[in-house]
Amino acid sequence: MASDTSISGSTQTSGLTALLAISKDGVIGDKGDLPWRLSSDLRRFKKITMGGVLIMGRKTYDSIGRPLPGRTTIVLTRDTNWHCDGVMTANSAAEAIKIAENRESFVVGGAEIYRLLLPLCERVLVTQVMATIDGDTRLELDLSDFHVETRSKHPSSEVDEYETEFVEYHRQKRS
Ligand SMILES: NC(=O)c1ccc[n+]([C@@H]2O[C@H](COP(=O)([O-])OP(=O)(O)OC[C@H]3O[C@@H](n4cnc5c(N)ncnc54)[C@H](OP(=O)(O)O)[C@@H]3O)[C@@H](O)[C@H]2O)c1
Repeated sequence: MASDTSISGSTQTSGLTALLAISKDGVIGDKGDLPWRLSSDLRRFKKITMGGVLIMGRKTYDSIGRPLPGRTTIVLTRDTNWHCDGVMTANSAAEAIKIAENRESFVVGGAEIYRLLLPLCERVLVTQVMATIDGDTRLELDLSDFHVETRSKHPSSEVDEYETEFVEYHRQKRS
């Protein structure tokens, strides 16, 4: 079973980090949910984000259905009346970033929110699912401004439906 949960810079001091899992053909979701069963990846997600701030879209929040324990959740929505107990609401990217200011913060999807915030992320932690998958939510992931910092392979197992590769990207120095 994949057990690697270590990433360099886990004591991040600045900048946003995005976390995402993506198939070889760019699928990240299907019917409002994740299109795979990858328990080790969920455990790694928990370990990396624990104590931090999660920034997510309203649809991703709906699919999770509750605030994740031990983390502050900021939900991005354009609906100024939207409210859920235990989470903070932001009506724009700027508002979300202001709320998250000076705290270790993670952009955790879905596709709309990655498109919105990846340009601001300093690190992107990608779980590359080594399969082509049917799904209705896709992301064109352009990481040409990033370099690979670490990479580790994890085989499929009874709890992980597909082989994965966990790749930590860091943004090249901005000129
Ligand atoms: N594979 C992965 O790593 C991963 C991670 C997360 C999610 N997912 C999957 O991705 C899918 C959901 O992704 P999605 O793209 O459909 O939805 P999403 O990004 O989770 O949420 C979209 C919603 O965010 C709000 N929003 C978007 N841009 C905004 C802006 N500029 N300002 C304020 N609010 C804004 C809007 O909410 P309102 O409509 O309320 O205004 C919009 O409908 C699900 O299948 C989920 O399971 C996959």
